Amino acid sequence: MFEIKKICCIGAGYVGGPTCSVIAHMCPEIKVTVVDVNEARVKAWNSNTLPIYEIFLKSFNTVVNASLNISVPKRRTLILKIAVLENCVISCTSSGFSQLEKQNPYKYIPADLTEGMFRMLNRGLNALSSRKVKITCLKARLMSLFVLKAANAFLAQRISSINSISALCEATGADVEEVAKAIGMDQRIGSRFLKASVGFGGSCFQKDVLNLVYLCEALNLPEVAQYWQQVIDMNDYQRRRFASRIIDCLFNTVTDKKIALLGFAFKKDTGDTRESSSIYISKYLLDEGARLHIYDPKVPKEQIIQDLCHPNISEDDPDRVCRLVTITKDPYEACDGAHALVICTEWDMFKELDFESIHQKMLKPAFIFDGRRVLDGLHSNLQNLGFQIETIGKKVATKRFPFTPTSEIPKFSLQDPPSKKPKI
Ligand code: UDX
Repeated sequence: MFEIKKICCIGAGYVGGPTCSVIAHMCPEIKVTVVDVNEARVKAWNSNTLPIYEIFLKSFNTVVNASLNISVPKRRTLILKIAVLENCVISCTSSGFSQLEKQNPYKYIPADLTEGMFRMLNRGLNALSSRKVKITCLKARLMSLFVLKAANAFLAQRISSINSISALCEATGADVEEVAKAIGMDQRIGSRFLKASVGFGGSCFQKDVLNLVYLCEALNLPEVAQYWQQVIDMNDYQRRRFASRIIDCLFNTVTDKKIALLGFAFKKDTGDTRESSSIYISKYLLDEGARLHIYDPKVPKEQIIQDLCHPNISEDDPDRVCRLVTITKDPYEACDGAHALVICTEWDMFKELDFESIHQKMLKPAFIFDGRRVLDGLHSNLQNLGFQIETIGKKVATKRFPFTPTSEIPKFSLQDPPSKKPKI
C-alpha cells in the first residue's frame, strides 16, 4: 500500500492552508510543506494574524505543529523541485500544474478533490483518529472529481429551487420557511439546504454548475446545459430581485441615500467573500447611486474594496467605490443616519444588535431588509420600535402607526374661515 510520508501542497489559499493544517494536526508523522508564490500570504500564515478566517482555524496555533512548514519559493520552478522531493503533491491553486500530473510515481491530488477532503477532515477533526484520517485521505483520492461536481450542482439546484418558491411566496402571501418545513418533512426530500436566501455564494457552487453546463455543451447536450444554466440564472435573479425590492420600498430611488449593508462574507463564520451575494447586491445598489456603509465582522476592508472595484462590478467607473462606499468597524456606525439596514450574511451577532438605538439613529421610515431570515423571531419587537420589515420569502404585515409630526403644524380654527379676497 502506498504510504504518505511527506506532502507538498502548492497554494496557501482557502484550500491549501486549512487542508494542510488539519493534515499536519491529525497526522504528525507526515511532513507537510505548503508553498505559495504570494509572499504576503505566506508571511500572514506564519504570523498571529492569519490571511483567512474560518471558524475552526481559531485554534490554528494549536493545530500547526513542527510538521507543517509554509514557505515561499524563490522562483516558480522551485515549486516543482520542492514538489518532486515529496511523495505526495496536492495542487491547491487555480493556476495549473499539469506537468505534475504526468510525473510518476508522485500522487497528484487536484484542488477540488482536496477541498472535499478538507471538509471531511474538518468535520472529523475531533472524532477521527489519525489512522482513520489516513484511510479517508486514500479513499478521497479515489473519489471521482465528477461526483463532487454533480453533488455541488444538486445542492445549488436545491437552493435555487427554494429561492424560486420564495418569489412565489412573496407574491401570494405564503411563507417560504413554512413551505420548506413542510416539504422537508418528506424524507425523500429532507430538510437540509432548503433555506431561502439572497442567493448562494462561495467558490464551488457556481463554478461546478458552470462546469457541468460547459461539459454538456461540449458533448452536444444543449437541453441539459440549459437545465443547469437555469440554476445559475435563478441565483442571479434572486439577487436582482432583492436589490429591486430595496429600491422599490425606498420610494423607487436610492440615489444618494445611505444604506447600511451588514455582512459581506458568502456565509457566516468565514471571512471568504468569493462569489458572495453581498458583492452583487452592492453592485445593483451602487448602479443606482446608493451610498453604502458596509460592515462585516471578519472580512477585511481591503477585501471588500477589492471585490467592489473588480471590473465586473464597477465596470468603467472603479472610482465610484471611493465616492460611494464606506467600510465601518461596527454595525451601529453603518446604520447611523441610514434609510435602510440590509442583512446579506447570517452572522449570529446580527440577532443581538441593539435595534432600539439603531432605530433612533436611522432616518424614518426606517427599513430592514432581511436577506437571510435571521430576524424572524424579532419581527413583532422590531415593528413596535417602528421598523418596516421586508424579508425573503414572506410579506411581513405592516403595522400602522399614528402620524407623529417632527415639527409643529400650524393650527387652523374652523370657526374663523379665511377672509375672502376682495373681488377686483
Ligand atoms: C460547498 C459544499 O457544501 C461543499 O460540499 C463543497 O465541498 C464546497 O462547496 P461551501 O461553499 O463552503 O460548501 O458552503 P455551503 O455551506 O455549502 O453554502 C454555500 C452557499 O449556499 C452559501 O452562500 C450559503 O449561504 C448558501 N446556502 C446554503 C443557502 O442559501 N441556503 C441553504 O439552505 C444552504
